[in-house]
Formats: sequence, C-alpha cells, structure tokens
Amino acid sequence: MSELSKKIIKWHKESGRKNLPWQRDTNPYKVWISEIMLQQTQVNTVIPYYQRFIERFPDIEALANSNEEEVLSYWSGLGYYSRGRNIFKSARLLKEQFNCSMPSSLELLESLPGIGRSTAGAIRSLGFKKQAAILDGNAKRLLVRYFCIKDMIDSSKTINKLWEIAEAQVPAKGCNIYTQAIMDVGSLICKRTNPQCDVCPLEDDCLSKQQGMQTLLPNRSPKKRKPLKKVYWMLLQNEREEILLENRNTKGIWEGLWSFPEFKKKAERQDYIESLKIDYELIEKDMKLKHSFSHYDLDIDLISLKVSKMHNLENNKAWFGTRNIMKVGIPAPVSKILNK
Ligand code: ADE
Repeated sequence: MSELSKKIIKWHKESGRKNLPWQRDTNPYKVWISEIMLQQTQVNTVIPYYQRFIERFPDIEALANSNEEEVLSYWSGLGYYSRGRNIFKSARLLKEQFNCSMPSSLELLESLPGIGRSTAGAIRSLGFKKQAAILDGNAKRLLVRYFCIKDMIDSSKTINKLWEIAEAQVPAKGCNIYTQAIMDVGSLICKRTNPQCDVCPLEDDCLSKQQGMQTLLPNRSPKKRKPLKKVYWMLLQNEREEILLENRNTKGIWEGLWSFPEFKKKAERQDYIESLKIDYELIEKDMKLKHSFSHYDLDIDLISLKVSKMHNLENNKAWFGTRNIMKVGIPAPVSKILNK
C-alpha cells in the first residue's frame, strides 16, 4: 500500500466522516444519488435534499416509476437540473436493461447519463467496495500538492497523469475507506485557499509543503471572464396571494422548470403589462439580483406587481399558491426570490 494511502486510511479511522446520511445503511443506489447531489454542492446543502429524495425514491424502481417533473420537484433549489434529469433517465435505463440494479463495472456505470469517470469510481468503491479510483476536484488538489505537480491542471495531459497517480494509490483492501478518506482530507484539510497543514496526516511527506508551495498549487491557466446575460423578470401576485409562473419549454438549463415570465428587453416587459389590460399596483420596481452559473452570470431585473383580476392565461402559465409551488421544479434564483 502506498504511504499516502496508509496515512489517510489511518487518519480516517480517527477523524474521517462516517455518519453522513448516505454512509448509514448504504448501498450503490444511495451512493449514486449522493454523489450526483454532491457535485458542485456543499455537504450541508445536500443533506436535507438527499433525505427527502431517498424517502420518496428509496430505490431505482420507485425512481423509474415516477416522472421527470416529480423528480425535478425534489431537486428544486439545488441547481444544475441536468443532474436531476440524468438521474431520472438513468433510472429508466436501469429498469429496462439491468432489472433495477446498479452495475458495478466502470464501463457500464460510465455509460449512464450524468456519470463520469470519477463518479463511476466513487460508486464502485463506496457502493460496491471494489477497487476503483476517483479524481474529483478535492482529490485532484490533494494529489497535485502532495506530489508537487506544477503543470497546468486544466490540460488533458496533466489530467491523464493525475488519473495514473490516483489509480496507483488505490489499496487492494479497504478501497471504500480510502476513497472516503481522500475525499475528506481533500475537502476538510487540503482546502483550496487555507490548507490546514498542521493537522494534515500527509504533512511530513507533502512535496509542495516542503517547498512552501502548497497555496500556489494547483496551477491553472487564468480564467476567462464569464459572459453576462441580462434578463427582465416579472413577479405577478393576484388577490389570492398566488404567483404567476411560466413553464420553460425552451431548450436550456431550466427546461421543464417553472419560472417568472422573462423578457429580453425592459420595453418588452412593459408592453406585456400594458397588453394585459388589467389593473395593477406596483410593489417593487427594478429590483436587481445576480446569479452565477458555471458558464455565465445572470443579471436579473425584477419588477413586482399586484394584479386585480387576470383570466385567459396562455397555456404555459399558471397561478401557484404556496402548496402547489412545492410540487414543481423551480430554478434556484426564483426560489430565492419567493422565499423573500
Ligand atoms: N463529496 C463527494 N462525495 C462525498 C462523500 N461521499 N462524502 C463527503 N463529501 C463528498
């Protein structure tokens, strides 16, 4: 077993996380769901979503027998909805082709929508206790620092090299403990900006620590600025305190979710309000909000109106009371506004 594996496995026995909801009474299905939810999302944010999801969908069969809209409603507010859509698509495939069980081979796992090489490795090792490597952001940072790899981390050459290194660390026995340990040391100790080297089990042989370079690594090429997209939203509330939402039937990240009516230009929004020919009272004008996605920033200008009567809704629009809103998928910035 490599020095690195020995040390972090020993550390995990004393200090690792052993009681997260997906670690109790675990199985490959639960590992899969938790791993997908944990992509781009903090453990503390995931926990309540995970618990509600598993309660409603305790196994692949329950998930495959549901429908996309219901699955997305349990994803509502977590963001990156393609993850929820892919989970549902995969559940249907697993029902049709694998008799509602998870496969354990990396190749079959990676053939499912939304499961990449590292997630497949995590499911195989944490869920099946079989040998497999992971290389998520935390593991990458830890390995780069430990071996003091100065190459640009975003090049495919470096990534291939890191996969080789990651695979060489995987122990023959106790692979699941090793995987959880590298996740934990990576996220709790070998932190991006403020690594806690004084409590790190790898401090003595960490090559970048020896050279005082730990905070300078990983090396990545300078970030390009994300494009900014400006949208105009409209919050309409009726006399029953219901909110008007529109189903996004256009392709894109929010496809199938319910959101505020959206306009590209301020004047279009004003024209729309005038065209309704209704009495309205302005509640709030030009409220500004920002929301960041991995590939662009959204700049939102929101107007809130109280309307008296409104009939003849177009068929992609509907009024939602507090109860009904819980049953559909809503983009994270929309639920942020509604919670206010
Ligand atoms: N992030 C991804 N997988 C995780 C896990 N199993 N435990 C804690 N954080 C994680």
